[in-house]
Amino acid sequence: MLKLTDISAGYGAFQALWGINLEVKTGEAVAVVGPNGAGKTTLLRVISGQIAPISGQIIFEERNLKDLAPHQFVEEGIAHCPENRRLFPKLTVEENLKMGAFIPSARNDYANRLIWVYQLFPQMLERRHQLAGTLSGGEQQMVAIGRALMSKPKLLLLDEPSAGLAPVIVMHVFDLVRRIREEGFTVLIVEQNIQQVLELVDRAYLLEVGTVKLDGTAEELKNNEFLRQAYMGL
Ligand SMILES: Nc1ncnc2c1ncn2[C@@H]1O[C@H](COP(=O)(O)OP(=O)(O)O)[C@@H](O)[C@H]1O
Ligand SMILES: [Mg+2]
Repeated sequence: MLKLTDISAGYGAFQALWGINLEVKTGEAVAVVGPNGAGKTTLLRVISGQIAPISGQIIFEERNLKDLAPHQFVEEGIAHCPENRRLFPKLTVEENLKMGAFIPSARNDYANRLIWVYQLFPQMLERRHQLAGTLSGGEQQMVAIGRALMSKPKLLLLDEPSAGLAPVIVMHVFDLVRRIREEGFTVLIVEQNIQQVLELVDRAYLLEVGTVKLDGTAEELKNNEFLRQAYMGL
């Protein structure tokens, strides 16, 4: 579904990603793990078209996404649930969800998609008129994921959905992601909770200072001595 070849990217003169090769197949859940500053968020920004790569190729569903504008990436079927959720705190849950349906195809189908997201997350229906800023962290994450789903993406990008949440809420967020997978979505998830995310995904990539240090199936990475010692404290 998605194939990155030799992607380099950065901010002005600062280069954050160096020759990244990464693939996500239809129906897969894939994790990108790694320490702070490794370039995980930058990678998702490249995949959702917010940053143009310096070099390399992004092929999505057999199409080269080079030179498309960010909103066109959404139209192609890529939705990005950003780091720190980025909700509009003074808008209601429902107004936030509506923001996710801004592309024409989603706008025309808005009512149905809203019903569908509420079926997926019934808690959001109860809170639909509540201001997003007054929700708990876990609920806010649910709205952020729901908002991304309003565009009915083929590929959902999740940037550290569990960050800043209490351990019990982290479990709920991972359950949500599991349900989204069961709905048939293809997911690329960035996480620092390595052990937990490896229970959820098929494959994973370890990013260190802008390069892929390791990649393999979740099973392989769970048993990788380097990863266990350096990142899982095992
Ligand atoms: N908007 C930005 N402008 C300049 N440098 C940035 C910006 N965002 C991130 N960086 C730098 O790019 C590198 C990778 O950051 P990031 O992709 O956010 O890493 P991660 O998500 O893995 O923590 C870091 O060195 C960070 O300081
Ligand atoms: Mg990040």
